[in-house]
Amino acid sequence: MGAGGPIRHDPCSNPQERPSFTMHTILERQQLSPNVTRLVLEAPRIAEIRQPGQFVIVHAARGAERIPLTIADADAKAGTISLVIQAVGKSTNDLVELGPGDAIADIAGPLGRPTELPDHGHAVCVGGGVGTAVILPIAQELHRRGVAVTSIIGGRSREWVILEPELAACGTVITCTDDGSYGRPGFVTQALADVLAPGDVDEVFAVGPVPMMRAVAEMTRPLGVQTTVSLNPVMVDGTGMCGGCRVTIDGATRYACVDGPEFDGHLVDFRELADRLSTYRPFEQAALERRACEIGLRTKPKADADSSTPAAGANA
Ligand code: NAD
Ligand code: FES
Repeated sequence: MGAGGPIRHDPCSNPQERPSFTMHTILERQQLSPNVTRLVLEAPRIAEIRQPGQFVIVHAARGAERIPLTIADADAKAGTISLVIQAVGKSTNDLVELGPGDAIADIAGPLGRPTELPDHGHAVCVGGGVGTAVILPIAQELHRRGVAVTSIIGGRSREWVILEPELAACGTVITCTDDGSYGRPGFVTQALADVLAPGDVDEVFAVGPVPMMRAVAEMTRPLGVQTTVSLNPVMVDGTGMCGGCRVTIDGATRYACVDGPEFDGHLVDFRELADRLSTYRPFEQAALERRACEIGLRTKPKADADSSTPAAGANA
């Protein structure tokens, strides 16, 4: 389903290239860590109905790749949603170069099943790196319901820790860095071990790198603590048609876009997920290298760019 407000900006200089569908204007851009950016953009219909755990598929411009992104926050009154983007490949790098006043051609959503949330007790929300952005709306809604929330968030070093103040507004936050440059030294799982020890945790939500989610699930399994993880397989259509986001849950095939993206962490085949994700890495790397070449050509000195070489023509 497409959603959004009126067309206010026209990013296309060529009238024939102008899209005929709704655009989403970017209102704010904030750098959260060296490769993580938050964009706040107009998407009133999505802002009104989105729930924690849901995501959108962003199609930045005609011909661009479709990128699944969790809705990190929304303001129904202002008609805006926040997307937190880790620039890892060509498409995400293109997306984070946009700023206020630019517009995104198409956003489909909200997609996926909302998080199943308790109404009482003590929940622990574990966010690894950019996965912290997926944890935020869950922690916010748990807090709103009166659930005691402990968030454990981690980054490689201080500059990679994101959304700490926002999570502090929802309860206790334990911040970890791999190199010990801020907060508690070590992985989030080391802090989780201490929090689980007293035995007063009712549920754990964990989002981050696959090895982190697998480690969290293995820690809570013997304690019988319900553990929800959010999976990030490759997605294409986001409607259950293409099969790209296939995962195995309790031995059965499921599609993260329509059956998830959240699943019982104790039932996920993490090994298969890691294998499938690594399959696409060489293609992503090749696309990134092509992008680097294109950017190099585009930023050539004017004298070069004005020449009639094939390179200059390619940059027009
Ligand atoms: P990262 O590799 O920098 O790790 C972040 C933190 O996770 C670390 O500081 C550490 O505390 C913890 N961690 C990492 N490896 C661990 C291990 N083996 N055991 C225990 N804890 C470990 O993270 P990043 O570069 O920000 O990448 C985040 C990952 O989250 C990406 O792989 C991304 O695809 C994934 N992600 C998932 C979703 C989702 O919906 N599931 C959403 C966004 C991002
Ligand atoms: Fe195509 Fe899920 S993205 S089936």
